[in-house]
Amino acid sequence: MQKVAVVTGASSGIGSALCERLLQEDASLHVCLACRNLEKANATRNHLLSCFPSADVSIVQIDVSKMDSVLRAAEEIKARFHRLDYLFLNAGIMVNPRISLWAFIRGIFSRRAYQMLTTAEGLMSQEDRVTADNLQEVFETNLFGHFVLIRNLEPLLCCIEKPSKLVWTSSVNACKSNFSLEDFQHRQGKEAYSSSKYATDLTSVALNNRFNKQGLYSSVVCPGVVMTNMTFEILPPLVWKLFFPILWLFRLFTNTYTLTPYNGAEALVWLFKQKPELLDPLVKFHSCTTFFGKNYVEIRKVSRPLRVHCVVISTVVPQVTYASGYIRFRLQTPLTQKYYLRLRTLLQDENRNRAPPAQKQQEAPLAKVVLQVKKRPPERIKYLT
Ligand SMILES: NC(=O)c1ccc[n+]([C@@H]2O[C@H](COP(=O)([O-])OP(=O)(O)OC[C@H]3O[C@@H](n4cnc5c(N)ncnc54)[C@H](OP(=O)(O)O)[C@@H]3O)[C@@H](O)[C@H]2O)c1
Repeated sequence: MQKVAVVTGASSGIGSALCERLLQEDASLHVCLACRNLEKANATRNHLLSCFPSADVSIVQIDVSKMDSVLRAAEEIKARFHRLDYLFLNAGIMVNPRISLWAFIRGIFSRRAYQMLTTAEGLMSQEDRVTADNLQEVFETNLFGHFVLIRNLEPLLCCIEKPSKLVWTSSVNACKSNFSLEDFQHRQGKEAYSSSKYATDLTSVALNNRFNKQGLYSSVVCPGVVMTNMTFEILPPLVWKLFFPILWLFRLFTNTYTLTPYNGAEALVWLFKQKPELLDPLVKFHSCTTFFGKNYVEIRKVSRPLRVHCVVISTVVPQVTYASGYIRFRLQTPLTQKYYLRLRTLLQDENRNRAPPAQKQQEAPLAKVVLQVKKRPPERIKYLT
């Protein structure tokens, strides 16, 4: 049976290069371009057909920043296909990205210089907008729209005998310090992009927990620094062209300057060829390019507090209540003070929600929580009722 790959954001940049490379790998694959702009999608389709005249390439219109469009596209995909083998969740935006020259100068002379040049951490700020769905545009585009698409395509994706793959184009810029459960759409801050990509990493882990048993596997990828429409919004193309030799030289120190969409798609294509059951759900797959232009994939553990976040998310609802009335949580990782305090706040809220005012007196023990943290001296907190 012909395999099917749906690629969101296939009309330009990494998405378009990915489609081309997928057809190079498997000319019999059906590639469905999921794009918001039909004109651009048709141009991509024509280009693909000029390279692979017998290829099967179709288009479905989707704007992932509009829920009604996502639902309509999901219905259309379900009407066209019986199953999906690959769903590449690649569409993404930054809104009005700006580089802070001051942060750059400060960073370049600090110990963070390497970190800053390889991840752009602390270097960029963006604006954000509110969509017609009353959500933050960056989060709705990069994460929520895709998540709703997955949930609506479950019948085509979940099959134990024949696993399907989700591949998210995340970023090395996904930074834990920019994500907060209290402001999970990053309404308040200036780094919505980084925050949305970190939330994407978390979502991928959560999807694996939920769907692996049903034959659906999720992975996250960083394409590296790639010259695309997205980067051209940060600085004009001419400036990038002037800096190109310097960026090329950066490859002496770091392998993340993939620079072309073809190179950036390396990890996505690599994942296309892997058995998803064998992949570690807690790693990110990085497209890398050596100084001499050789592409390869580097596997890096996602940052550690990710697991803490997952634990926090999964233990918000207490599961074991002892006869003594204590609720016990066991965490697999040591908590930093910051996450420890966050978890404590969540538990306090949970306690409040669990005991309605009338019953609060009788069910007072429910509001006592014991928190045990592995590898650190066990910490015991008794919450006030
Ligand atoms: N370039 C980099 O250095 C870099 C680094 C790390 C991660 N990434 C990630 O790589 C992915 C691809 O980006 P790119 O670099 O290839 O940039 P790009 O050339 O701007 O491609 C973005 C794609 O997403 C589509 N898109 C944007 N908003 C959409 C929406 N609301 N609904 C449907 N499609 C939408 C765009 O469609 P239109 O053509 O209609 O605008 C375009 O096809 C993104 O997720 C980005 O975050 C890029």
